[in-house]
Amino acid sequence: MTDDNIKYDVVGGPVRHVPVMLNEVLSCLQLTATHSNPLKIVDGTFGAGGYSSAMVEAGAIVMAIDRDPNAIRDGADLVSKLAGKLSLVSGEFRNLGKLAHENDFNNADGVVLDIGVSSMQLDEAERGFSFQKDGPLDMRMSQSGVSAADVVNTMKQSDLTRVIGILGEERRASHVSRAIVREREKMTFSTTLQLASLVEKTLGRRATDRIHPATRTFQALRIFVNQELEQLGEALFAAERLLKAGGRLVVVTFHSLEDRLVKLFFKDRTGSQEGSRHLPLVNHKDATFTIDGKGLLKASREEAEINPRARSAKLRWGERNENPAGKVDMSIFGLPNLVSLDALQLKGD
Ligand SMILES: C[S@@+](CC[C@H](N)C(=O)[O-])C[C@H]1O[C@@H](n2cnc3c(N)ncnc32)[C@H](O)[C@@H]1O
Repeated sequence: MTDDNIKYDVVGGPVRHVPVMLNEVLSCLQLTATHSNPLKIVDGTFGAGGYSSAMVEAGAIVMAIDRDPNAIRDGADLVSKLAGKLSLVSGEFRNLGKLAHENDFNNADGVVLDIGVSSMQLDEAERGFSFQKDGPLDMRMSQSGVSAADVVNTMKQSDLTRVIGILGEERRASHVSRAIVREREKMTFSTTLQLASLVEKTLGRRATDRIHPATRTFQALRIFVNQELEQLGEALFAAERLLKAGGRLVVVTFHSLEDRLVKLFFKDRTGSQEGSRHLPLVNHKDATFTIDGKGLLKASREEAEINPRARSAKLRWGERNENPAGKVDMSIFGLPNLVSLDALQLKGD
């Protein structure tokens, strides 16, 4: 990122994460209109506080959540600057309902999620997210639990193939996992560049390749280690229960696996799911959200030109109605059946 891209937040310090589709987020949350009472918004992904500070500036009261202790530490100045209008809670967004309840923040007018890693997490080599910088092979947003190195050093080859193939959408996942297993007979993986160079050596790199050969393997490990799909699925149900009638749920995603979940959720909750050819449509549910058209927005061409991260962004949103929240049913997402992180944790202990 160049210096030109550094933005300044309301506390006046440099913010390295440039918020994506901020105007669209504010508008979907109805923060561009005037309200007699301030809107109560849960920001499930505080990051550098770009959304949170803009929402407070637009008149909202915000409860923000992040699982990364660095984001919580660095957000303290903004919290004191915006005293009374912004609270920042350490936790996982899958628990956003519980966290809101504990913080007396029920009946929210809006929930926003900006999925993925922040620029700070990617840029800091010691966090281990980047295959371009040497650092510990870590990738844990919460800085606790099973690391990417634990996965690479202990997971069975067949499970590694599935994780890399499914979560990284890597067609040659079995080549990568075989190479990892052979290599770890000789050494223990501890750094990002050890893994990146092994993947590069295994898959090769053509001059025409647009992305580094390790991109997909790193994506898979990051999603697995942070249980990103499960977190997102659970957070969508939690948001449904937390929002009051007329409240808005806004989710910004950056790749197809995540966007698919949000799309399936709104399809299920707007009652627009189609009956299968083979099964009668039973258990017809009352819709709990309404969407406008497809309920889908993309970043403007101008934003995509300035901020390359915005190019793959998709924003989906819906408005909560007065019907009671539906049943929590993670099966609507058809999540892949991968080895559990807990099983790996026990093995690693
Ligand atoms: C893309 S950044 C958000 C940037 C933010 N919108 C801004 O404008 O600065 C994503 C943030 O969400 C956090 N995060 C990701 N998954 C999370 C989860 N399951 N629970 C809580 N925080 C999470 C990450 O630690 C990261 O700080």
